[in-house]
Amino acid sequence: MTRAFVFTNHKGGVGKSTSATNIALGMVSLLRHSKAPNHRVLIVDTDSQGHATLVTTGRRDFGPQDSLYAALMAEREQAAQTLLGCIVASQWDADLHVAPASPLLEGAERELMGVAGAPYRLADALSRIANQYAAIVIDTRPSFSLLTEMALLAATDAIVPVEPRYLETVGLTSVIQKINDIRDGWRHPTLRVSGLLVTKMNGRIRGHNHLLAQLKAHPLLGPLLLGVIPANEAVSYAHRNHQSLFSYDPRASASKAYAQVVASLVRYLAKEGV
Ligand SMILES: Nc1ncnc2c1ncn2[C@@H]1O[C@H](COP(=O)(O)OP(=O)(O)OP(=O)(O)O)[C@@H](O)[C@H]1O
Ligand SMILES: [Mg+2]
Repeated sequence: MTRAFVFTNHKGGVGKSTSATNIALGMVSLLRHSKAPNHRVLIVDTDSQGHATLVTTGRRDFGPQDSLYAALMAEREQAAQTLLGCIVASQWDADLHVAPASPLLEGAERELMGVAGAPYRLADALSRIANQYAAIVIDTRPSFSLLTEMALLAATDAIVPVEPRYLETVGLTSVIQKINDIRDGWRHPTLRVSGLLVTKMNGRIRGHNHLLAQLKAHPLLGPLLLGVIPANEAVSYAHRNHQSLFSYDPRASASKAYAQVVASLVRYLAKEGV
């Protein structure tokens, strides 16, 4: 089964899109390097802001016919085909594909609210095309909206990016509770929280070190720590140029930290038989 990693946190600006896009590219490169039979990775951008789409494709003009919106609004029988039709290759790597967002996704939430089976529309369509990919990475908007629920229902693994200043376990526990609600309440037993990703870590700030130490010592959350990404200005420069962090500066501290996260996720994929 193709693993689908959803990057989620209802807090804004914590590094969901940065992590989703760079980790997806890192997976393509590492899988290719390790001669995996399939090294294509698909980014699904469920955020109407379309940041992941913009940085990876250089475009923000996807609309009613050629964005994820089309797939979500399509009749059930045509949904997978419509999804395939809207997928484009990214500018970062020909094997990194993108199901692009559109501002229309905001309206899709209202249009689909109350429609029977609506929360499963993404999961249904994705499940029929997933075997074309070694992994799927889903970016979400900063809220617990219908689209985020759809993304969680389409995922196998949730990764929660979190800034050190939001590391108080209360905030984190509410994200994890939401993921568990989807798993148990919505009968999606294969969804698991597979990692916490601490982002924008500044080792010179005492509070950051203190909170990270607390997280590591936490009996439930500590074992979930997937990686620590330093605050690094290379991230914003890469972002502004619509470049990946790895191509902007592979030696930047954040690139090295993301490379480690990619390596552990690819090991995880190998264990799952990709
Ligand atoms: N490690 C980092 N170091 C420095 N800046 C970073 C880092 N990670 C992300 N940023 C910056 O923080 C901002 C928010 O990042 P990003 O867009 O990835 O967050 P997000 O969680 O997807 O936001 P939203 O909730 O709006 O979708 C961006 O300007 C990005 O360049
Ligand atoms: Mg984002």
